[in-house]
This record gives sequence, structure tokens and C-alpha cells, in this order.
Amino acid sequence: MPGRVVVNDVGPRDGLQNQSVRLSPEQRLELIRALLAAGVSHIEVGSFVSPKAVPAMAGTDRVLAGLADESGVFSVLVPNMKGYELARDAGAKHVEMVLYASDGMAKANANMTREQASGVAEEILQRAAADGIGVLATISVAWACPFDGPVEVGTVTAMARRFLHAGARRVVVADTIGAADPQRVRTLTAALVEEHGGERLACHFHDTRALGLANVYAALESGIRAFDASVGGLGGCPFAPGASGNVATEDVVMLLEQMGFETGIDLPSLLAASRLAGSLTGNAPGGRARAWLERHCNESEALRAQR
Ligand code: COA
Ligand code: ZN
Repeated sequence: MPGRVVVNDVGPRDGLQNQSVRLSPEQRLELIRALLAAGVSHIEVGSFVSPKAVPAMAGTDRVLAGLADESGVFSVLVPNMKGYELARDAGAKHVEMVLYASDGMAKANANMTREQASGVAEEILQRAAADGIGVLATISVAWACPFDGPVEVGTVTAMARRFLHAGARRVVVADTIGAADPQRVRTLTAALVEEHGGERLACHFHDTRALGLANVYAALESGIRAFDASVGGLGGCPFAPGASGNVATEDVVMLLEQMGFETGIDLPSLLAASRLAGSLTGNAPGGRARAWLERHCNESEALRAQR
């Protein structure tokens, strides 16, 4: 299987939006810079949403401004046209739109129906094409919704088809509440890869039931080569009851590198970013392989120092 895999760190958005501690834009930038220093090239750096709904993401314009001289693929989440316009005005080059595989989640998260949210997303895609901005389309609750229950494969494949044809750069299939399992991941991702190839697809898993890494592996086997993950396993979703953080970036990188995939990410430096996420928020559980990774990385550091 080996080859290159894109790891997109969503900790600075999906992770931080759910913390009781509110980080300043400068602290958020410090975390993003630590990720860049570790070789993480794709980072979701914030969102342009109602500050009443998600106070932790206020000031994302200042985060983007602070990254003006850095190279990397920095995306921001936008829930509606207002968010899109704010993101564009702040200089965003990549926006992430959220689509919903269920009405229950569309209502709870965006106060729209599933179809209304898809309609807004289509308008944003058209504007973004004219503005030269790349669009990632995330299909949330792609396996199960906390309000409406299990989601049919056909619902998600139809949405992916619609948005890939409409010009989304990538469709991200998201297990927002961490309810998927490797078998269901394989069924959906195999169908998507068969239809579209793996290039423009990605997966986003939460580790609520400790199946995050197993789900990454199932998607890899189907030919998915891009994954969202969150440094230190930071996260949760304020709109999805019971969801815990994303699968930890350090666990995903460890899995990929051990299997011979290239990520371009340096594990000891990523661990330093994970420790920073912990000290900034007081609430980054770290990867499941934390103890092993800490020891292994200390040994590699010591070896490096001896050379
Ligand atoms: N950015 C900033 N402010 C926004 C906004 C945006 N993208 N969209 C709406 N607003 C403001 C409006 O200006 C209005 O402000 P006011 O009360 O001062 O007049 C207020 O929010 C309500 O606007 P409305 O269009 O009626 O939205 P709503 O109340 O139906 O809320 C969302 C819908 C989507 C704006 C809101 O629920 C939200 O931002 N949710 C965040 C969702 C999220 O981040 N999810 C994470 C993915 S898991
Ligand atoms: Zn998520």
C-alpha cells in the first residue's frame, strides 16, 4: 500500500472550539506554529462562525493574518455565506463547508435543513470558484447522527457525487460522533473510491469508541490517502452530544509511518506540539500510544544528540 498520505491537523479548530479554556489568537498561533515546525503542512486554523455559538473561534481573522508569511494549506470552516465572506475578506485561500447527512444535525449545528445547508454550500462553491478560493466539503455525521440514528450509504455517496461534480477540491467524510466501525467505514469508503478514485477524498474520525485508528486503517485499505486528525486528541463537538476528540495526530502519524507511508511529519516535534496543546488547554488527552511515543521519541532525541 505505501505512498504519501496527507494529514490535516484540525486541532486548532475542531479541538479548540470545544475547550472551556479560551485561547487568544496569539496562543492559537503558537500551537499552529508548533505544528508547522513538526512538518504538518495542512492545518484547519479556525472558523468564521457566530461568536455567540462558538466563542473560542472569535479572532480567526487575526490567526489568518498571523500566518500570512507561512507556507502551508490553511483552511477555515464556514457555516454560511456570512462566514464565507468574512473568511474571504480575511485572506483565506481554503474554506471548509459543512454538509449534513441528516436533518437532525443540520438543525442542531446550522439551524437549517439538510437540503438548505447543501443549497448554501452550492452558492458558496460558486462564489469561491470566482474568488479563486479552494473548497473542502465535509459531510458530517456520515455514518450516524446523534439525533436521527444510522445514515444510509446512498445518502453519503449521493452528496459526495453532487459536491465533487460541483467543484469541491475534496470531500471529507466525517464520523462526527465517533460511531463508525471499520466494516462500515470500508463499505462507504470503498464505494466512494470506486466511483471517484482516492485523490479528492478524505476521512475524519473521532475516537469516542476507541475505533479511530481502526477506522483510519479501514479507509486506507479502501484507498483513502488523506485524513483529519487532532494534535493531542484535542476536541469534541459542542453540537454533537457524547462526541469525544478526533483521533490523535500523533497516533495516526505513528500508524502511517510504521506501515511505510510518508507523511512528512517529524514525530518528536509533533509530540512537542501535543505537549504544548496540553499545557495551553489543560485538556489534551494525548494519543493512545502516548507512553510508547514519549519513550521512543526521547530515545531518538538522545541518539540525535550523540551524533
Ligand atoms: N460569522 C459570524 N457571525 C455570524 C455568522 C458567521 N458566519 N453567521 C451568523 N452570524 C451572526 C448574525 O450576524 C447574527 O448576529 P446578531 O444576533 O448580532 O444579529 C447571529 O449570528 C444570528 O444569525 P442567524 O443567521 O440568525 O444564524 P442562527 O442563529 O440561525 O445561527 C449559525 C446559525 C450557523 C450562524 C450558528 O449556529 C453558528 O455559527 N454555529 C457554529 C457551528 C459550528 O461551528 N459548528 C462546528 C462544526 S462541528
Ligand atoms: Zn470533527
